[in-house]
Amino acid sequence: MQSDQTSTRVAVIGAGNVGGRLARALTRAGHRVNVGAREPARAAGLASEGIAVTDPATAAEGSDVIVLAVPVPALVDAVSSLGPLQGKILVDASNAVGIPIPEGHDTVGAYVAELAPGTFVVKAFNAIGAEHLEDGAVGGSPAFLPIAGADEGRPTVAALGRSIGFEVADLGGPEYIGMVEDAARLWIHLALHRGWGRDFGFGVLRP
Ligand SMILES: NC(=O)c1ccc[n+]([C@@H]2O[C@H](COP(=O)([O-])OP(=O)(O)OC[C@H]3O[C@@H](n4cnc5c(N)ncnc54)[C@H](OP(=O)(O)O)[C@@H]3O)[C@@H](O)[C@H]2O)c1
Repeated sequence: MQSDQTSTRVAVIGAGNVGGRLARALTRAGHRVNVGAREPARAAGLASEGIAVTDPATAAEGSDVIVLAVPVPALVDAVSSLGPLQGKILVDASNAVGIPIPEGHDTVGAYVAELAPGTFVVKAFNAIGAEHLEDGAVGGSPAFLPIAGADEGRPTVAALGRSIGFEVADLGGPEYIGMVEDAARLWIHLALHRGWGRDFGFGVLRP
């Protein structure tokens, strides 16, 4: 774990491409991770690596930060399966790929905030391919991780991102969540529609 980090209790909801890799990375960085899966037995691979896997409500109950790593259409069910969420930091890692943003909202993050009132929603971990979430780097260089959302949640989420190797860019409050979702659209466009493939991330150059 990097020296500026403390151990955070994190629930990762969803044990797929994103959830599994984030769970591994955060565990390796010294955080206390609990994966919440609808069918914990199907996440036996993570459990065999020593990562706790429970039902989503149990995972959420013992955590300060909850990462939603589920498809956008599953968000409503996933959030409602988590039990009381008041005061928790809720990280939305989802992207509306090939589907519209839920009606009545400018961003998926705003939709999540409406689904979970009383939480501190931060958009993060969505603007890079899942395979690069495991160590926060591409080709040995830190990858760019934009985040935006609630003031009360961003410092903790930024620290989580840095702890797994990312170069975190804190874009600001909820009004900047759309910018983070645009960054994901840019990555997806290049990867899937412009022939770049998935093996890249964005980085920051400094003199
Ligand atoms: N793939 C990427 O490169 C990437 C990168 C950044 C962000 N994202 C975004 O991250 C999210 C997850 O993507 P993914 O690639 O990890 O998808 P995935 O591999 O299909 O995994 C989705 C996970 O969500 C779980 N899930 C579905 N409904 C649920 C519910 N109601 N409660 C709890 N868990 C539920 C699934 O569990 P079951 O096994 O029970 O169905 C599965 O483990 C998506 O919104 C995606 O847009 C993806």
